[in-house]
Amino acid sequence: MSLNKEIARRKTFGIISHPDAGKTTLTEKLLLFGGAIQEAGAVKSNKIKKGATSDFMEIERQRGISVATSVLAFEYKDIKINILDTPGHKDFAEDTFRTLTAVDSVIVVIDVAKGVEEQTEKLVEVCRMRNIPMIVFINKLDREGKDAFELLDEIEQKLHLKVTPLSFPIGMGYDFKGIYNVWEKNVNLFSGDNRKNIEDTIEVEDISSSELDELVGKDAADTLREELELVHEVYPDFDRDAYLEGELQPVFFGSALNNFGVRELLDCFIEIAPRPRPKASDTRLVKPEEEKFSGFVFKIHANMDPKHRDRLAFVKIVSGTFERNTPYLHVRNGKKMKFSSPNAFFAEKKRIVDISYPGDIVGLHDTGNFKIGDTLTEGEIMQYKGIPSFSPEHFKYINNADPMKSKQLEKGIDQLMDEGVAQLFILELNGRKVIGTVGALQFEVIQYRLEHEYGAKCRYENLNVHKACWVDPEDPNSDEFKEFKRVKAKFLAKDKRGQLVFFADSAFTLQMTQSKFPGVKLHFVSEFESVAIQS
Ligand code: G4P
Repeated sequence: MSLNKEIARRKTFGIISHPDAGKTTLTEKLLLFGGAIQEAGAVKSNKIKKGATSDFMEIERQRGISVATSVLAFEYKDIKINILDTPGHKDFAEDTFRTLTAVDSVIVVIDVAKGVEEQTEKLVEVCRMRNIPMIVFINKLDREGKDAFELLDEIEQKLHLKVTPLSFPIGMGYDFKGIYNVWEKNVNLFSGDNRKNIEDTIEVEDISSSELDELVGKDAADTLREELELVHEVYPDFDRDAYLEGELQPVFFGSALNNFGVRELLDCFIEIAPRPRPKASDTRLVKPEEEKFSGFVFKIHANMDPKHRDRLAFVKIVSGTFERNTPYLHVRNGKKMKFSSPNAFFAEKKRIVDISYPGDIVGLHDTGNFKIGDTLTEGEIMQYKGIPSFSPEHFKYINNADPMKSKQLEKGIDQLMDEGVAQLFILELNGRKVIGTVGALQFEVIQYRLEHEYGAKCRYENLNVHKACWVDPEDPNSDEFKEFKRVKAKFLAKDKRGQLVFFADSAFTLQMTQSKFPGVKLHFVSEFESVAIQS
């Protein structure tokens, strides 16, 4: 098959949601449709069970599972679908943000009773900023929940999306009768049986016909007619271009647990979701159809067995074909590298592949050469953009607790940072090392892994930092910037790329600093995609 055909039949996406909205259940049902798994319950949940949030051993266990679920690939109606796993737990939000740089679209799952929740807001904001096409799936319709219009309003207001329902529920909870598929113009009746056959969908050409009354009862049919009229009046018609540009988000309703409304979602998804999209590098926009291979590392996973310190680097293929045993340029360190056993992912299994195409993810065995964000090419010198670091929420000094093992400690910290477990900052004033993390849990994980994988011991010391901000002076030679560096000398550090970072001890300090030094912009994100913090 030609490169173009292979690209056209690929869809790489992520499912995002607040924990418990039903991401795992939906993933599993999608895999069932693709025939990639045979029974429900086969996909292991990678979420941290309630009540176990302080138990970092649980995280270690989950780390094992998350290798298996990092990429779940399957074929459906001759489309190759790659689902990239995004951890729902907020302590791993940065992992999710990075994965979102490798998807071409997302499905947002929302619990019908809980509506828009905190984690969904944060993740959708990132997708919105990058104009990633999104489809919304409102889940758990078999339960009592919010009114459909109320939810659509909430989605528009809290998530700042422009929605258009492509399916609409007939009743809800106890009275849930099914859904009307606006996209396909048919009715799917709900029987509450999760083995329900997908052929049970009933075509309804004309919703004003008495056929609908017979199917769902007169009252429910009348309500549906009124509601669909309102939908037609209030919401724009679906427009694929607007969806692809991230300006319009279709909404589906269903119940993942009951495998209801999932087929409709999947059928529409394969029709409208984008094929692999072009990606910006520091020099140019790279198109998937280009013959020469290029790709970037968006995730690194360490081996669970401490005796084998190799890692798996996950590379998203952006252009051309990736071939086994072919030398590619590792742009950052300028070396050519060959990979004899690249892994492709199929459902929960890995296997060695000879050739992969844009949109696909390959897992490369790595002995410490890769960092997140690294680019591989056939020789071109360019670096893919868009894997920023975010300001961590928690900060601690990290000290060596075993002077005999300082080399091991250095190496361990270095490698864990490459994996993206946390961020390391070096204070300008005294060279002390500061670890910044998104969640408090990571400190325990780092300490445990340093000891078990590297034989090193560390001790933490508290440090009062509210936010780390990347410093971006309008003029690096200005007196203002020199004065900023003099006054704030105690609070300046360098990140892993050598970028200057300012540690603000409070929101107030941050505000004061911005108004005192308006020519020195401060950012919460390392790549300055977002607007600077307002003073
Ligand atoms: P997550 O990955 O987004 O965190 O959510 P997950 O799929 O694990 O689902 C969270 C809970 O919601 C699970 O129940 C799951 O069975 C339930 N659920 C998912 N979809 C539906 C649905 O359509 N209707 C109803 N009523 N429930 C749904 P749990 O009791 O927390 O876990 P489990 O013991 O069933 O695994």
